Amino acid sequence: MLILCKVWIKKLMRNSRVLLMIICSSLTIVVGANAAPPEQVHLATTGITSEMVIQWGTQEDTTLSCPSDSNVEYGTDSNELNQTASGDDDMYLWTTCTHTVLLSDLSPNTTYYYRVGGSGEWSDIFSFSTLEENPETITIGALADHGTSSNAEETTTNMANDVFDLVIHPGDISYANNAGAGNGWGDNTVWDEYQNQIETVASKYPHMYSPGNHEEDDDPYGFDAYESRFYNPGPNSFWYSFDYEFIHFISVSSEHDYDPGSTQHNWLQSDLETANNNRENVPWIVFFAHRPMYSSNGDGSGHGSEIEFRDAMESLLYQYDVDLAIYGHDHHYERTYPVFEENVLSTSSGNISDPYYNPPGPIHIVQGNAGRSIYDGLEDPQPNWSAYRELSYGYTKFDVTKDSLHFIFIRNDDGSIGDEFWLYNYNVSDIPNESSGSKMNKSLSSLGLIQTIIGILAITLVKSKKRI
Ligand SMILES: [Fe+2]
Repeated sequence: MLILCKVWIKKLMRNSRVLLMIICSSLTIVVGANAAPPEQVHLATTGITSEMVIQWGTQEDTTLSCPSDSNVEYGTDSNELNQTASGDDDMYLWTTCTHTVLLSDLSPNTTYYYRVGGSGEWSDIFSFSTLEENPETITIGALADHGTSSNAEETTTNMANDVFDLVIHPGDISYANNAGAGNGWGDNTVWDEYQNQIETVASKYPHMYSPGNHEEDDDPYGFDAYESRFYNPGPNSFWYSFDYEFIHFISVSSEHDYDPGSTQHNWLQSDLETANNNRENVPWIVFFAHRPMYSSNGDGSGHGSEIEFRDAMESLLYQYDVDLAIYGHDHHYERTYPVFEENVLSTSSGNISDPYYNPPGPIHIVQGNAGRSIYDGLEDPQPNWSAYRELSYGYTKFDVTKDSLHFIFIRNDDGSIGDEFWLYNYNVSDIPNESSGSKMNKSLSSLGLIQTIIGILAITLVKSKKRI
């Protein structure tokens, strides 16, 4: 009966799905249910690097109860998972139950092996590594507008072969919703398919998300899948922040009210003020959201720069000196110069010999090119705030130290670097580190050379005079 009900649900038209699920749920309550095998294993961070949040899904027989266990067995030897932790589960109007377990008191610079489940239904053994204590460099990966296409699978494969400490995803995750089709609810099996596809990356590195327009489905789902399936720190599911070593990450929702005076806008202002006052401990601020404040890929599509979003929030990013803003939504790669109100604030190229030194406005990145069809609507001419743009699939990655940030866009096609830039969070005149120190040494060497030349000339002159 249980299997039959699930087959009915998948085969029948979407308009009758919820009603059928309720009927099937009622039938299966009578029959009873057992634990289901874990799948869709993924990690998230609280921001505390001695902790790790582990989540996974189980396919239950009803939307009403989750009999599967929420246990994790883990340890530093894959043959001896000698520690245990338990957590909670959550469901929405779908048969996937999401389990969430927090591991704490983890040792730094250590690989942990783990499996999830319980009651005879356990996952394979996965692993993750904790950050070393006081790391010199941390590596962040980023992707957006992913989905389940063959291009999306290629991004997943490429990211699985790369190395990160943390991955951020500013929205349009699975494309399970039915937006635009106008004929009922989306197919929540696509969420399950997606989360199984990304498991190879998400079971290894914590992933943190922003909601995109494709996270919202018709009633009764709304954003339920997004809220149920993904952990984030903080009381609000749609906007939150966390410190990750020397980066303060802020994720906001371009899909909810962001206007001045809104709850979200007030929260952002307060969060940025606090973060900006904490630069000594956490020097970088990285902002991510789905819709781009700057994009020149919108010809005739209704995409491109999200002016309303920009008008509402850009002044806060400028006022509190946000360093980097990362978006999806438009399916290409694009990087701006440091910019505010479309005024370019630095025309440095960003390459290693001409990097950005503490620019007064953020650099904005569009990277909605992880799997959905590339948009071919580049504005012509290229706006003056647009430093680089490219129509190809891939993901981005940035290495961050306390005072430097090296950002790269990696193409799916051949793994080559499509774009890169260097950003320092100090003024070139401050000379706080070796890099600037070497510049100073070069300057001093030049000065010494000039002094030497002047000295030789003076001696020559004196000798000439003596000869006269
Ligand atoms: Fe989008």
